[in-house]
Amino acid sequence: MKHHLYTASFLLLSTLLSGQEVTISIETECSATVLQTDRENRLQTIYFGEPLGDEKEYPEISKGTQYYDSNAGIYNSVYTPAGTWNLAEPAIQVVHGDGNASLELRYISHRKEQIDGNVSETVIVLGDDLYPFRVTLHYMAWKRENVIEQWVEIEHDEEQPVLLKKFASANLYFPREEFYLTTYHNAWAKEMQPEESRLSRGIRSIDSKLGTRAMLLQSPNFILSLDQPASENSGSVILGQLAWSGNFRLDFEVDSYENLRFIAGINPYASEYRLEKGKVFKTPSLVYAVSHRGTGEASRGLHAWARKYRVLDGEGERLTLLNNWEATYFNFDEDKLAGLFGDARELGVDLFLLDDGWFGNRYPRNNDRAGLGDWQENVDKLPHGIGHLVREAEKQGVKFGIWIEPEMVNPKSELYENHLDWVIRQPERPEKYFRNQLVLDLSNPRVQDFVYGIVDRLFTENPELAFIKWDCNAPIYNAYSAYLEAEGIPQSHLYIEYVHGLYRVLDRVREKYPMVPMMLCSGGGGRGDYRLLKYFTEFWPSDDTEPVERIFMQWDYSYFFPSIAVDCHVTNWGEQPLKFRVDVASMGKLGFDIVAGELTENEMQFCKEAVRNYHSFKEVVWHGDLYRLVDPHKNDLASLIYVNDQKTRAVFFNYLVNERYMITATEEPIKLQGLDPSKIYRVKEINLFPGTGSRIKGEQEYSGDFLMKVGINPAVSLRRTSVVIEINEAVR
Ligand code: DGJ
Repeated sequence: MKHHLYTASFLLLSTLLSGQEVTISIETECSATVLQTDRENRLQTIYFGEPLGDEKEYPEISKGTQYYDSNAGIYNSVYTPAGTWNLAEPAIQVVHGDGNASLELRYISHRKEQIDGNVSETVIVLGDDLYPFRVTLHYMAWKRENVIEQWVEIEHDEEQPVLLKKFASANLYFPREEFYLTTYHNAWAKEMQPEESRLSRGIRSIDSKLGTRAMLLQSPNFILSLDQPASENSGSVILGQLAWSGNFRLDFEVDSYENLRFIAGINPYASEYRLEKGKVFKTPSLVYAVSHRGTGEASRGLHAWARKYRVLDGEGERLTLLNNWEATYFNFDEDKLAGLFGDARELGVDLFLLDDGWFGNRYPRNNDRAGLGDWQENVDKLPHGIGHLVREAEKQGVKFGIWIEPEMVNPKSELYENHLDWVIRQPERPEKYFRNQLVLDLSNPRVQDFVYGIVDRLFTENPELAFIKWDCNAPIYNAYSAYLEAEGIPQSHLYIEYVHGLYRVLDRVREKYPMVPMMLCSGGGGRGDYRLLKYFTEFWPSDDTEPVERIFMQWDYSYFFPSIAVDCHVTNWGEQPLKFRVDVASMGKLGFDIVAGELTENEMQFCKEAVRNYHSFKEVVWHGDLYRLVDPHKNDLASLIYVNDQKTRAVFFNYLVNERYMITATEEPIKLQGLDPSKIYRVKEINLFPGTGSRIKGEQEYSGDFLMKVGINPAVSLRRTSVVIEINEAVR
C-alpha cells in the first residue's frame, strides 16, 4: 500500500489533535438532519426530525445515544465506505490504482452557502487518510418546500485510475421505532401500482437493470413513513425519488439497532466505473420532501418545488391537444390529418399531435416492424412534408406537434444497414428485440449528433413546430458498445455513459430551443424522473387510459408530480361514459386521442363545454395545491381538490371507482381542505352532460369553515359516476 502525503491528512490531523467535534445541520422549515464527527473524525448522522429552536443544542443530541461500539458503530456513517472497518452495506466501494480495495472516509471540511432566502447548499468534503481520494457530499435544501436534493462528487489524485464499484448518491439514517415503505411496481399499462409494507430486518432493494425505459418494472419513487403507515394528514414521511434515467438501486436496511439505513444511487450492476486522475464523477441526485404532517403536505411541497425549480417551465402554461395515435395508429395520410386538425379546432384544444408512423421510405413505418431510425417524411403518406402539415394546422387555428423516438432503430431500416456500429448489440450473438427494435449507442458522440440532428432538423425546417413527444420503447438487451471498445473504454461504462449521452443531447436541444414544450414518453410511463424533467415540460404516465385505472394511477403519481407535468388523454379505453373519461383527464394536462367525428352531437357539445371549462380552471389544476380527500384504494370513491394560492378558487373532482349495485350514492358530505375558513364560497357543478341536471344546489354560498368542517356531498351515484364542482370565492 502506498502512503501519500496528502493535504487532507494534515487537515484531518489538525482536527483530530484539536479534538474538536464538528456538527453540521441541514435544515428546512420542518426538518433537520444533523451530522456530527465521532472520536475518530468520521462523520455520522445523529438526528433526523423537526428542527430545534436553538441550533446550538444540536451538538448535544448524540450525548444521549449509544450507537458507538465495536460491532455496529458504523451504521450511521454519512457515506459508508467499504474495505476497512465497515462490514455493512456500503455507499461507496472502490479499488485504488495500486489494486488495494480499502477506503476510509473522514471529515475534512464543510461550508454552507445561503443562495437566497429559501435555498441553501451544504457541501462536505470527506477524504481518505492514505490515498488522495475525496468524496464531496452536496445537500441542497429548499426551506419553504421542505425539499432536499443530495448528490456526491468523487475524485482522486492517484496516478492510476481508480475503479468505482459502488457510488451511491445518498446514505441516510433514521433512528425510529418502525418503518413503512411504499414502493411502486410497473408493467406496460400497469404503471405505479403501490405496495406498502413494514420493513423488517435485512435489506429491501428496489432496482432496475433495464438501461433505457428503466422504470418498466419498478420505479425509483418511494414513500418512507416513520412509526406508522403512510397517512395523508399525519405522521413523519419522506417522499421522493432517485432522479436518474438509467439503472437505479434503492436499499432500505433495518439494522441491528432497528434503525433504518437508506442508500440510493445508480445500480452498481455491470457498471464498474474507471475514474481517471483529476476527473470528477458526479452521481445523480436523490430528491425528497419531508413532512411531519403526512403525505399530503409532503407532496404539496414536492409539487411546489418541482414547478418552481425543476420541471421545465413548471410555472408556465401548457398546450391542450388532440393526438392521433389511437384514432389512426399508423394508418393516415394528409387528408385524414387535415380532418383531424378540424376536429382539434372544434374541440377547442390548442394543438394537434402527430404520432408514430410519419417517416421511412425504403422501409415505410406502416407498423412497428420497420422504419424506426429513418426520419424522413414518408412520401406516400405525406407527399408535401411536415411543413405543409404545420401550415394546414395553422390555417385551422391549431398548433402542430410531432412524435419521435430518436434513440431507437428497427433492424429493417436504412439506419441499421448503414450504421450497424451505432447499435447496442453483441456482435457475436443473435439479436434480441423489444417491440422489434434495438437501442442506439448514445455513449457514442456521433450517435449523440445524429439524435440531436433529428430534433434540430425538425425545428430548423419547421420553425413553427410547437411540440415534441419523445418516446423510448425498448430496454437495452445484449449491452455492448462498439464505440467504447474502439476507444478502449470499459464496457461497464455503457449504462452510465448512455444516460450521460442522452443528457448531453438534451442539453444541446434546450440550448437552442429553450422552451418548446416536450412530452417525455417511454412506451407509457417507463420514464419520468426529475433529471429528465429538467428538459421536458410533461410526461406520459401510461398507455393505460381506461379511466378507472387512470384514477388510481393519477392518484399514485400525484404523490410525486404536480398535475401540470402529467399528461392525461381522453381515449376510447374502457366502458365508462365520455363524461367520466373527460372528467378524469381534466385532473392533469388535458388531451384527447379519439375520433371526434364518431362523437354524437351531445357528446361533441359536452366535450366543447368541458374543454372551455378546463381552460377556465386549468390554472388551479396546474399551479394550485392538491389535497387528496378520499382514497380510492380504501373507498368506493376518489375525491381530490385543487386550490389556488390565494384560496379564492378550487376545483373538486369526485369519481365512483366501484360500480357494484349496492353502492347507491355518497352518503355523507366530504370535508374539503385547503380553503380559507373565513372566506365565503359559491359552489357550482360543472361538466354536466347535455340533458342532465345537477344535484348540487347552484348559487348556494358556504363559508370555507363550513366546507372544511362539515363538507359538501357531491352526490356521486351509479347514475352520476363523476362529479366536478367549481368553488369560487363569492364576490359581493
Ligand atoms: C408508445 C407510446 O406510449 C404511445 O403513446 C405511442 O406513442 C406509441 N408508442 C407509438 O408507437
